Amino acid sequence: MSNESNGIDSTEQNGTGATGAGSSTEKPWGGRFTEPTDAFVEQFTASVDFDQRLYFHDIQGSIAHATMLTAVGVLTEDEKLQIISGLKEVQADIESGEFQWSVKLEDVHMNIEARLTDKIGITGKKLHTGRSRNDQVATDIRLYLRDEIDVIAEEITRLQEGLANLAQREASTIMPGFTHLQTAQPVTFGHHILAWNEMLQRDYERLIDCRKRVNIMPLGAAALAGTTYPIDRALTAELLGFDRPSENSLDSVSDRDFAIEFCSFASLVMIHLSRCSEELILWASAQFDFIDLPDRFCTGSSIMPQKKNPDVPELVRGKAGRVTGHLMSLMMLMKAQPLAYNKDNQEDKEPLFDVLDTLKGCLKAYADMVPAIEVKAESMREAARRGFSTATDLADYLVVNGVAFRDAHEIVGKAVAYGLEQKKDLSEMTLEELQQFSKHIQEDVFNVLTLEGSVNARNHLGGTAPEQVMAASKRVLAGLSTR
Ligand code: ARG
Repeated sequence: MSNESNGIDSTEQNGTGATGAGSSTEKPWGGRFTEPTDAFVEQFTASVDFDQRLYFHDIQGSIAHATMLTAVGVLTEDEKLQIISGLKEVQADIESGEFQWSVKLEDVHMNIEARLTDKIGITGKKLHTGRSRNDQVATDIRLYLRDEIDVIAEEITRLQEGLANLAQREASTIMPGFTHLQTAQPVTFGHHILAWNEMLQRDYERLIDCRKRVNIMPLGAAALAGTTYPIDRALTAELLGFDRPSENSLDSVSDRDFAIEFCSFASLVMIHLSRCSEELILWASAQFDFIDLPDRFCTGSSIMPQKKNPDVPELVRGKAGRVTGHLMSLMMLMKAQPLAYNKDNQEDKEPLFDVLDTLKGCLKAYADMVPAIEVKAESMREAARRGFSTATDLADYLVVNGVAFRDAHEIVGKAVAYGLEQKKDLSEMTLEELQQFSKHIQEDVFNVLTLEGSVNARNHLGGTAPEQVMAASKRVLAGLSTR
């Protein structure tokens, strides 16, 4: 192959910022190759542009691996010390921005190893003993994801705290509850907000459960079959804070179901946040006029001067599609892969990383925004009053006074039709007007026709009564404080 057709010219090499890579036959795996990698293929197969963010966990994994190799007598104490201090220098170079990532060295693993060898010489070449990039990368992603899970768990907790406090603040604020987006029955705003909390509580529990399966160590599986060295996998697992080493080497290097599971958790969070967003967007509209979002969470229009747009919830709603899309990518990535490792798996990183970034951004936006939601209590109340939201209460009243429920339903239906015609809510009708529909209606009916009467009456676990909302938010806050 001519230089022209293999495309490796000096511009290409310099353009990648390569250090110490030399010709492609000098790749760490170059021994059996007789010609350099095609320049396009080199770019096409490389992952360093996106997997360099694993550098910290890659080094963490290597330090533990070298420590274990020393404990079992494969490396000497001196070699271990050289490797560890070399890796720490590499880490410092990366963090100071001095490190030159090379596409010629394909991925984060070979970039770091090559740089280590530049620094400490032949001992650097011993680090990869008893290990493959296959178990190395699987370990790195698990370590990386585990740390991110812990950050996300805290952010969900912060959001839930905000929701519980908002619920407490608005425990007796009345709004219309909806089914089919039609006014159904009055509820308290606090109760509505606690419904959001329930969604996130389940998401949190899913996350904690997912973490258990993430926190298992593949290292030691080597390429696929294990290794001939007398490794101590329990020791490496302990050094890295894994719950245990994995059980099967073939499975360890091949499956990415833990990442799929995480993205499935993330998709559910995003779907929940998207539902919340939809409500915030509706509520902030002039038509609903239930809430105000502070200016700092909104933007304006370049043409319509009156506009204040709820961009944050809108973007979160939009990003739900993106995260769910990544979940689909990962599932399709996995399907039909034969055991054990396949290069397909390199495609796990970009979707997973984008899910992490997106989810963290959305959770932060929400946790910051929720405490700042301004409730327009009068307007909510007016909406609840206008929509015949206490019709069920009137029916229940009739039942208590001896009418069968189906008949009561019919009676109240007629009263509502009358109210629509007269433009009057049930609570605005006189006793005489109401008695046209049933003789069982007496003066005490007005206790149940009021909005307060309606919500206070639903005073049981899970009900909308302010007393229940206060108690439920206290339970939520108590639960969060023990996490
Ligand atoms: N960059 C690869 C990945 O992300 C690392 C493992 C490559 N292993 C191999 N034998 N080519 O999956």
